Amino acid sequence: MARPVIEPFRIKVVEPIKITTPAERRALLADARYNLFSLRAEDVIIDLLTDSGTGAMSAEQWSAVMRGDESYAGAKSYFRLQEVVRELTGMEHVLPTHQGRAAERILCAVVPLRGKVVLSNGLFDTTRANIEVAGGAGIDLPAADALTAHRPFGGDMDLARLDEHLARHEGSIAFVVMTVTNNTMGGQAVSLGNLRAVAERCRRARVPLVLDACRFAENAYRIQRDEPGMRDTPLSEIARAMFDVADVFTMSAKKDAIVNMGGLLGVRDGALAEAVKVNLILTEGFPTYGGLAGRDLDAMAQGLREVLDPHYLEYRYAAARYLAKRMEDDGLVVVQPAAAHAVYLDAGAALPHLAPSDLPGQSLACALYLAGGLRSCEIGELMFGPGEGRRQLVRLAIPRRVYTQSHIDYVGAVAEDVARVRHQLPAMRILSAPAHLRHFSAALEPATPFPEFDA
Ligand code: F0G
Repeated sequence: MARPVIEPFRIKVVEPIKITTPAERRALLADARYNLFSLRAEDVIIDLLTDSGTGAMSAEQWSAVMRGDESYAGAKSYFRLQEVVRELTGMEHVLPTHQGRAAERILCAVVPLRGKVVLSNGLFDTTRANIEVAGGAGIDLPAADALTAHRPFGGDMDLARLDEHLARHEGSIAFVVMTVTNNTMGGQAVSLGNLRAVAERCRRARVPLVLDACRFAENAYRIQRDEPGMRDTPLSEIARAMFDVADVFTMSAKKDAIVNMGGLLGVRDGALAEAVKVNLILTEGFPTYGGLAGRDLDAMAQGLREVLDPHYLEYRYAAARYLAKRMEDDGLVVVQPAAAHAVYLDAGAALPHLAPSDLPGQSLACALYLAGGLRSCEIGELMFGPGEGRRQLVRLAIPRRVYTQSHIDYVGAVAEDVARVRHQLPAMRILSAPAHLRHFSAALEPATPFPEFDA
């Protein structure tokens, strides 16, 4: 019999989970006005809201915290981080920031964006917002069937559409962003072939290429596993090949650097790096700490050393694939292949009795909480507002090194209970919402009561 893929770590410190009853959760969810962001984390049994900043640091990372050098300028911690990042990415200039969106904001402040466009395989929402605030416009160019075609690299950019947009916007393209993995497209991976083809077109068009690299290790693992001819290439070489195509990278270190807070901006060009440093000093801090404590820089350096462990990435992807298959077998509709960092459910397809304006994603997310205390995240009409052809997704993101296989089995069992009553899940109505980013604080209610769930 095939042996199970095990968690390649032992547990040294534990955090208790409070177990709630269905009746308690019914009251808690009503108090939270059916908005999962309004719940207290301690009232959640398995928290799959995000994989960002929610990972568990290793013993070596905690040791690195003690080595942190808190000097204002030129701290040893910075040079240790610089060395690791230069080796990993080949980028000369390495600037820490307090998280990913700060790196994006600085890039968008120093590169002229007014009246310009940014082309992408899929901009994350903070990246898009930073581009728009700077006066630019973001255009996503994924394959039209990216979420339904079930190709191994559904995160790729559509090259024909890229050619068309490079010609159409000639002279007014600020840069191209490749997001790896493509979080807005079901977290799907991007092939090295696609990255290189995009880079070649950017070079010919003299347009800089930016890598949004927050899940670079998970993407590298998928290239090694599923891209023809890559099986024997070491993960570090694949990661380097991904960074080699880019002129700049931004990165939320809260994902694949496995720290709870932090970000990075990497730049090849010396003149751009100088402009970035001026803005960094103004808004984040001196370039050798960039809004973080020295100990954070050391933890980040150590996390970047650990994340390309093939056993860790194999275990992580195996857990996501297992959960995706189990949910699909139960009758839920899953974006395939699963992302390494999350399972994305297609609530619109699983709850066909609800229209997009009935917020099927929010209904499904609330049901997962009521049934088993799971916290997931709607990525559909509640988050983005109405949109032609928008899919109504629910993301169950898996924190790094936090949950075991029995937790994943529990999530599967809860989903099975919800799948059984999916045709009875109610429409959701918005009672009040702010004008921007409404999903964080909207108050909602179900149009009819949710079905009862057993403990
Ligand atoms: N880019 C991508 C692809 C992301 O997924 C995120 C964050 C960011 C940039 C911004 O990084 O949060 O450190 O400022 N994604 C989180 C998520 C919030 O839940 O997917 P940040």
